[in-house]
Amino acid sequence: MTGSYPATRLRRPRATAWSRALYRETVLTPADLIWPLFVTEGKGVEEPVGSLPGVSRWSLDGIAARAKEAVTLGIPCLALFPNTPVSLRSDQGDEALNPDNLMCRAVKAIRDACGNDIGILTDVALDPYTSHGQDGLLDLEGYVVNDDTVAVLVDQALNQAQAGADIIAPSDMMDGRVKAIRMALEMAGHPNVQIMSYAAKYASAFYGPFRDAVGSGGLLKGDKKSYQMDPANAEEALREVALDLAEGADGVMIKPGLPYLDIVRRVKERFEVPVFAYQVSGEYAMLEAAAAAGAGERDALVLETLMAFKRAGCAGVLTYHAPLAARLLDG
Ligand code: PBG
Repeated sequence: MTGSYPATRLRRPRATAWSRALYRETVLTPADLIWPLFVTEGKGVEEPVGSLPGVSRWSLDGIAARAKEAVTLGIPCLALFPNTPVSLRSDQGDEALNPDNLMCRAVKAIRDACGNDIGILTDVALDPYTSHGQDGLLDLEGYVVNDDTVAVLVDQALNQAQAGADIIAPSDMMDGRVKAIRMALEMAGHPNVQIMSYAAKYASAFYGPFRDAVGSGGLLKGDKKSYQMDPANAEEALREVALDLAEGADGVMIKPGLPYLDIVRRVKERFEVPVFAYQVSGEYAMLEAAAAAGAGERDALVLETLMAFKRAGCAGVLTYHAPLAARLLDG
């Protein structure tokens, strides 16, 4: 209920810092952040990703060091993405099922370095492993087939769980994969391995730098519109979320982030479940470009956008700015 001026002056509580702190409706802490990391082969390797200034691919030793840094910063979870050597990419993406692949070795390196002090989220989809850069298996016309892909994704998820992943995050947008993965995890003795589904993932122009980072960009022909969602659709996102929850998702993710905060809000209000958002590579690159061009101040831009995710209803945010934000929030 709002009265009228001058009895009501909304500026009154804004006058001092202590009062603004007292009246603040939303809090952002390092515990709200999930830090995506790119993994590469080698030892002592740090490869800067050209289209993501400030982000690098790290070899396993570097990944372990980043994990320790995350623990120190209070970041509760890492998300891993491998840059699979080109020689190991194939039509069917078989390397995804190799128990000794880069992803599995990264999971183990983090566990060795940090024990259970940090959560490890692993992405389930075939694009870092296929020679064509699509997330699934192709038929003769080049269409990404659903059910055969799901069967492979189940094996990929089990492979990651076996390596020690805490959260399986299917980003492939196949129908029915959450249920298939949940059942397989239960049967294989992984009842506490979580599923965070990329429930509403849009066919977006904001993924470009990520595809550079995992090395699938140059390989990809065409687009992903036959499985990722049409940016024009919101009701469909609610149906995607409803299905993934019914199939056993512990949390649901909306992706990309800022352009889709309306979806975050509607999902939160409708389902009252943990909602996460991915502030994706193109969003990170835009903020960095704005800061570099002097169009805004980096630290303030980063914290404002992350607060917006919390205000919209997110339980947490995947962001490449996680270490910067955690440092700013600490200081
Ligand atoms: C792959 C995947 C993508 C991202 C996360 N997992 C790219 C895509 O679907 O092409 C994008 C993340 C980002 O842009 O930061 N399934």
